[in-house]
Amino acid sequence: MNHYLRPRNSKPETRNSTFSYVTAALFVSALWACNLPGYTAGEVPFVPTPPEVVNRMLELADVKPGDVVYDVGSGDGRIVIAAAKKYGVRAVGIEIDGDLIDKARSRARTEGVADIAEFREQDALAADISEATVVTIYMLPEFNYKLKPKLEALKPGTRVVCHDFGVEGWTPARTEKFPDRTILHTHTIYFYKR
Ligand SMILES: C[S@@+](CC[C@H](N)C(=O)[O-])C[C@H]1O[C@@H](n2cnc3c(N)ncnc32)[C@H](O)[C@@H]1O
Repeated sequence: MNHYLRPRNSKPETRNSTFSYVTAALFVSALWACNLPGYTAGEVPFVPTPPEVVNRMLELADVKPGDVVYDVGSGDGRIVIAAAKKYGVRAVGIEIDGDLIDKARSRARTEGVADIAEFREQDALAADISEATVVTIYMLPEFNYKLKPKLEALKPGTRVVCHDFGVEGWTPARTEKFPDRTILHTHTIYFYKR
């Protein structure tokens, strides 16, 4: 197990550790399948969501004018930029890795949405996400569990869309499966409405 996949500030014997290591291994498989780097300054590696899955996540969230979309652990900014570009809504990415923040801001400028696509270099577990009406998440189960109190405090009607790992204890209103182009991984989207 690569050391960067072990959640920060957690000992191997902590809650759900076996489950987390299994899911972390799944993440690594996805990463290998895509042949992409997994560098990160955070407790979850950077594995990008494929464009077709990004589009479907935003469709399921039924993004409309006036929505504010937050992507928790925004990576290279693809979900935030897609939301801003396709739906013209304000979107915010929370990302702990400064290099990824720079990349996302640069992409937002190139795509002409820098005025409505904002990126904050922050630990998402400490961030204020309370203004969100749509939250997208591609993080590991233990991280989603730690984020749960913030998710449960969101305004009624807020949509939460998770890629591959849902929120423990929540029942999705809808679940969809997407075969990966590489056929080595099937993406799952979990859609929840608060
Ligand atoms: C699996 S990637 C998802 C990237 C993007 N949301 C997507 O779907 O393409 C997870 C991202 O979360 C970031 N991350 C990890 N821990 C974090 C934390 N505590 N706060 C904010 N971002 C974090 C990583 O650096 C990485 O970019």
